[in-house]
Amino acid sequence: MMENLITIKIEDRSGASQDIIVPTDVSLSLMEILKASEYDILATCGGMALCATCHIEIVKGLENLAIPEDQELDMLDTLPDADENSRLSCQIRLNQNNNGLAIKIKGSSEE
Ligand code: FES
Repeated sequence: MMENLITIKIEDRSGASQDIIVPTDVSLSLMEILKASEYDILATCGGMALCATCHIEIVKGLENLAIPEDQELDMLDTLPDADENSRLSCQIRLNQNNNGLAIKIKGSSEE
């Protein structure tokens, strides 16, 4: 594994999962990485923690992510299907510690 690459596991809404290799030396949020990997994420607000369509569940590796800001927590509070493993992928930046992260895509794919 090269120094600036990590592998994360993504499960889509249909339950299909695959590993993707992600560079950590780019300034992209996890939401942007998922979109670039052709996952269907609306991200209506463009990554401002305002729409929650980028909602994901962290299956593995939650402890290696930065603590969410209040704005993200407030937004997650409005979601009926959010729990303590929920995050907004637009608020997550990955680094080398996140190798092996596993997530499930939850946010709605329709307006
Ligand atoms: S893209 Fe809107 S909350 Fe993340």
